[in-house]
Amino acid sequence: MAASFGGEWTHQKLEILNRYLDAYTTALKDRPFHLIYFDAFAGGVSNPVDSAYASEDYGELRELRAGSPLIALKVKDKPFDKLVFVEKDATRCASLWLLRESYPDRDIEIRNEDANSALPGFCETLGSNDRAVVFLDPFATQVSWSTVEILARTQKIDCWILFPLMAISRMMPTGREPPHALAAHLDRVFGGREYWESLYNDSPQQLSLLSPEPSQQRPRGSDQIAVRYRERLETVFARVAPTSRTFRNSRNSPLFELLFAASNPAGARVAVRIADYILTNW
Ligand SMILES: C[S@@+](CC[C@H](N)C(=O)[O-])C[C@H]1O[C@@H](n2cnc3c(N)ncnc32)[C@H](O)[C@@H]1O
Repeated sequence: MAASFGGEWTHQKLEILNRYLDAYTTALKDRPFHLIYFDAFAGGVSNPVDSAYASEDYGELRELRAGSPLIALKVKDKPFDKLVFVEKDATRCASLWLLRESYPDRDIEIRNEDANSALPGFCETLGSNDRAVVFLDPFATQVSWSTVEILARTQKIDCWILFPLMAISRMMPTGREPPHALAAHLDRVFGGREYWESLYNDSPQQLSLLSPEPSQQRPRGSDQIAVRYRERLETVFARVAPTSRTFRNSRNSPLFELLFAASNPAGARVAVRIADYILTNW
């Protein structure tokens, strides 16, 4: 996995998205497709200075940058035919309404809604000539597996997923299995207990003490969690890019894993080749 460090990672995340959107629309510009960009965690027009990232873990983020909605709007060679921006926060949503006023000729839908409730309805509306890129860019563990699975089933969507490694790793103690409430949360993210619970093994020390209930442990760090989530994506998408990008904070702790998955069986090979090239080189 390629890795990005420190405050540059939000910039890199958006640069990777930008390059993919450009390449995707150019690759499909002579095809009879209606191209849609769906930003499920759109944020505001710019990344806010005091965003939820501005904590001890994410503290290096203080800059104001153009966000993903503006980047998608500015794709030039073949602009998207339609853009859908979903944002749960009313204030950020208001800045998207203003942005839309600056682009009166574009087909822009803005929804002040939860991404997990907006996406299934969107997937149902897709017609045979529709093709979409969905960007799942949450702060934490908001993306439910059931939502990801619905995207994959459309066979019309390419998906960038920012998987919250640090948040998930903290929910999975290394010396014992997670308590009930966290286990239920992990079930929702992975779409089933077996997908995360198999990272735990019997502790050899406990076995030697002949404990009737050997305690469980998992390897330290989050590498295996990222691998497991990629494997999970491979169970539902046509292809998943072999390369992903680990974004780390200035203390070198993994924050997020950026993954790419394509659902259209005919287009997935090319889509993954483009995404993999970008993930490897930028
Ligand atoms: C990491 S920021 C998005 C940044 C944006 N994609 C960009 O590149 O500029 C995540 C956004 O998701 C919003 N959000 C959080 N939970 C959400 C949910 N369940 N559904 C939709 N939006 C949500 C937050 O308010 C926040 O603006």
